[in-house]
Amino acid sequence: MAISARGSLGLPLRLAAPAPGWELTADVCVVGSGVAGLCVALHARAAGLSVAVVTKVQVDDGSTRWAQGGIAAVLGEADTPAAHARDTEVAGVGLCDPEAVHALVTEGPERLHQLISWGAAFDRDGAGALLLTREGGHSTDRIVHAGGDATGAEVQRALREAVAADPGITLVEHAMVLDLLTDAAGRAAGVTLHVLGEGSSDGVGAIRARAVVLATGGMGQVYAATTNPPVSTGDGVALGLRAGAVATDLEFVQFHPTALYLGPDARGQQPLVSEALRGEGAVLRDGAGERFMTGVHELAELAPRDVVAKAITRVQLRDGVDHVWLDAREVPGLAARFPTIVARCREAGIDPVTDLVPVTPAAHYASGGLATDLAGRTTVPGLYACGEVACTGVHGANRLASNSLLEGLVFAGRIGAALARELPVPSAAVPAAAALAGLLAPAVRGELTGTMSASVGALRNGAGLAEAADRLGELAGHAGDVAPGVAGWEATDLLTVATALTAAAAERRETRGCHWREDHPDAEDAWRVHLDVRLDADGGMRLTRRPVGEPVAVTW
Ligand code: SIN
Repeated sequence: MAISARGSLGLPLRLAAPAPGWELTADVCVVGSGVAGLCVALHARAAGLSVAVVTKVQVDDGSTRWAQGGIAAVLGEADTPAAHARDTEVAGVGLCDPEAVHALVTEGPERLHQLISWGAAFDRDGAGALLLTREGGHSTDRIVHAGGDATGAEVQRALREAVAADPGITLVEHAMVLDLLTDAAGRAAGVTLHVLGEGSSDGVGAIRARAVVLATGGMGQVYAATTNPPVSTGDGVALGLRAGAVATDLEFVQFHPTALYLGPDARGQQPLVSEALRGEGAVLRDGAGERFMTGVHELAELAPRDVVAKAITRVQLRDGVDHVWLDAREVPGLAARFPTIVARCREAGIDPVTDLVPVTPAAHYASGGLATDLAGRTTVPGLYACGEVACTGVHGANRLASNSLLEGLVFAGRIGAALARELPVPSAAVPAAAALAGLLAPAVRGELTGTMSASVGALRNGAGLAEAADRLGELAGHAGDVAPGVAGWEATDLLTVATALTAAAAERRETRGCHWREDHPDAEDAWRVHLDVRLDADGGMRLTRRPVGEPVAVTW
């Protein structure tokens, strides 16, 4: 059922760019080089396929390497897949798709062991058993970690080395993917991209492929302050929308409760202070030194992430302050267990061993993304999505801590299996015929992120969302005479995802998970649905409701 459509916003259906001047061919083109992208590449190779991995900066510069806490998987003797599923579904507040959750929790342990076989080294006790910790929303200890609080960096290192050792994988760095190429039947047949390099593959080119897998990570840079690195500009979701794919649950942006507070003018990527610290005993305090989580939830500081972020925001509003305090002074062996966080805090002049740490929520994770089936297929034939860019249905309205690396591992395996059995023979890509609208001027990016943080942030209301939608519409209306280049393409991708996210947030008139509406403070049964978003031929957004458990229509 179509429930709303904004008129012609003029968002581009293809990014303005020169015609491709060079070409590369592979069976599979993977866009993104974090856990999802590199695992898909390794699985595709195991199926005997040639792979091109395209990454916007350098292979290690995506969001995976910033992950601190770990990977959730059922490994402890007292743990069960049913318990992990229950915790995941409680955190997802009625919007998780049960089949997707089942796949996540039952296939997770095997995929984790496969990652270990690819070279990732996790922290172990003296007897060699994997050490498990706990984070918000988990009913037991089930999170493996590496280097104390450097799990993502270790995962990234191991996968990068495994990929580099395989001559069947071509890595294309400093490459911004622009748009999908399709064949005459509308099936994905590659991508256009721009490479900042020297030699034969410089400038705008094309990768021809029999399938395209988007693994571009998140969209945190749509906000003024985020834990995401600079590359997280929503390129995969924007590309998918332009190609006609359905995106879903975009309104569920998770705000991590504890980013290090670096002052009122802090912008861009902010240091994360892992939830695992609270798993090891750190507590939250207000300006008077009082704990405030104990009266809010039975799990106190280990309540699901949305609950903690909301409680912090309430204290900040109540007391008129920009941050609260994290007290980690009683965490045993703090500096050895959390070396990354302690070092980063000390750089900022705070010693968590002796001092309280100022923290505030920051945009952290897109629980929604391009809608996929259980094999990672989007609604566009030949186009798959994996990791944060995808919405497989496992996260619902709020991702459970440390389920994200796990989702990348599990669904990369599923995509690898699908690629092995269903890759078509190549057919010629036809040039995209869509009209080009102008690019957004990079100079207005600050205004875009400021609008999103002010009106589409952790706490939202109808009036603010309507103002934000109008402002984004005006920005789209003024997009114009900007020379093609990475800055303009990124700004335009940000505008596209900001517009889709804002439209979904305005439409969902309830509070659920990490979507918090002060004008609709309760969860409503009528809203126990996914909100699917499409980009119309006129460059406007069309929203439709889809019942939970009803798969998105993947018909290829
Ligand atoms: C954290 O370490 O707190 C973040 C982990 C996650 O986002 O799952």
